[in-house]
Amino acid sequence: MSNLARISISVEEKLLEKFDDYVEKSGFPTRSEAMKNIMREAIIRDEWMKGEFVAGNISLVYDHHKPGIVEKLLHSQHDFCDEIQCSQHIHLDHSNCMEIIVLRGKGERIREILKRLHQIKGLKHIVLTMGTLEKQNF
Ligand code: NI
Repeated sequence: MSNLARISISVEEKLLEKFDDYVEKSGFPTRSEAMKNIMREAIIRDEWMKGEFVAGNISLVYDHHKPGIVEKLLHSQHDFCDEIQCSQHIHLDHSNCMEIIVLRGKGERIREILKRLHQIKGLKHIVLTMGTLEKQNF
C-alpha cells in the first residue's frame, strides 16, 4: 500500500451525489474503490480497442431445439481455435442451454468472434465480458 498516490478531482455536485448513490448501491466500501474499478475498466476497454492481447468471455443462451443452431455455434467456434481457450455448456432446463466461451487473443479478433456469433439467428442472449491479461499490474 506504500505506492498509493492521492488525487483530487472537481466534479459537479449533482454528479457526485449520483456517484455516491452508485457507490452505495454497488457495494463498494469507498469512493476510491469504485473509482479504481472504473479506471481499470476504462484501461481494459482501451486495450481492446487498440487490438492488444486481451482475455475475456462470451456468455450466450439459446434453445437447442432451434434447427441448426448447435451446428452453427460449433462451426463458428472452430474457426477461432487459437482464441477460444475453452467453453462450458450448462443445460438450464428442458430447452435452454447456456454456453460460456473463454477467450484470449487480440481484441479485434475476439470482436470478430462476437460478430460471427451475432449472425446466428435464434440466440436469446449474448454478452461479452472484457478482461485483461494484466501485463501491467494495475
Ligand atoms: Ni444444453
